[in-house]
Amino acid sequence: MKKLLALVLALTLCLGIASAFAADKVGVSMPTQDLQRWVQDGENMQKELEANEYEVMLTYSANNVATQVADLENMITNGCKVLVVASIDGGALGDVLAKAKEAGIMVIAYDRLLMGTDAVDYYATFDNYKVGTIQANFIKEKFDLDADDGKTYRMEVFAGSPDDNNALYFYNGAMDALKPYIESGKLVVPSGETEFNTCAILGWGTDDAQARMDNLLAKAYTDGSFPDLVLSPNDSLAMGIANSLEAAGCPLDSFPVITGQDCDKANMKNIIAGKQSMSVFKDTRTLAAQVVEMVNYYLLGEEVPVNDTTTYDNGVKVVPSFLCDPVFADINNYTELLIDSGYYTPEDLGL
Ligand code: GAL
Repeated sequence: MKKLLALVLALTLCLGIASAFAADKVGVSMPTQDLQRWVQDGENMQKELEANEYEVMLTYSANNVATQVADLENMITNGCKVLVVASIDGGALGDVLAKAKEAGIMVIAYDRLLMGTDAVDYYATFDNYKVGTIQANFIKEKFDLDADDGKTYRMEVFAGSPDDNNALYFYNGAMDALKPYIESGKLVVPSGETEFNTCAILGWGTDDAQARMDNLLAKAYTDGSFPDLVLSPNDSLAMGIANSLEAAGCPLDSFPVITGQDCDKANMKNIIAGKQSMSVFKDTRTLAAQVVEMVNYYLLGEEVPVNDTTTYDNGVKVVPSFLCDPVFADINNYTELLIDSGYYTPEDLGL
């Protein structure tokens, strides 16, 4: 009997020690592998977390909300202490996040805010409004919109996915700066479509953006001309817009100015080829490092670093956020920004 007791005690002790040394498990839920940026986000998160000795459960949900819910449920069942979630539909995860909260799991909204829930603890992202401002400032400078030279320019407007809280920030950041020029007539929108809802592309799809650009050309450019500029919130849309213009026979030397965001490889190739004018670089290494720091502080029971406690209201609470800085990228600085920094190899960009 004594022997048995000793054995049980020894076993309990071993298990205790083992669990004290077992790595904390962190779940990382990414929306899709279709867009290069999310693949990169997932890889960087995994790398950073593993370097900090966490065990990582990384999933991609094929842009399917039910899959993302199942992935998160799996992470909760598997004992994750922290969930890092880049949502597909920011408002659709309330129930599963409530379960996480009940289980005492910390939830960090990654890049996109989780809406309508009190079960999100922190938000780590890039300054989304500033992304739009950077795009608009580029357009203002490129066309010298403040010049009193009697020139006018034809513009079309695209917006991101309406189920992604970021999309409205991008739109507002850009349109707050550009609307005065539309009102003064300096910028003309031949299709007449400028409202967020009319310009939005659900799911950020390249093909859907291409189809909408086809429609705009058929509707408002019947003389075979092309717009001078197209405001695109990100690279997946910019790609569709460029594909449409190319298919419609738009000559490269008069290709419209097209904005973007994410510095996806295919889009950087388009910038090099003159089929896109700029992008916004959101270094996923910076965001990943920031999130891992938040996880570290939280698990050590210390105050989690944030730099914005007023902007991101998800309808239930203002979520304490850390905003990283988005950076302007174009043909003139991409080498330094993307290649010299080791983000891409020259081969990645077809160089
Ligand atoms: C946004 C994100 C952008 C872009 C877009 C499409 O939420 O902030 O960087 O990638 O989704 O996935």
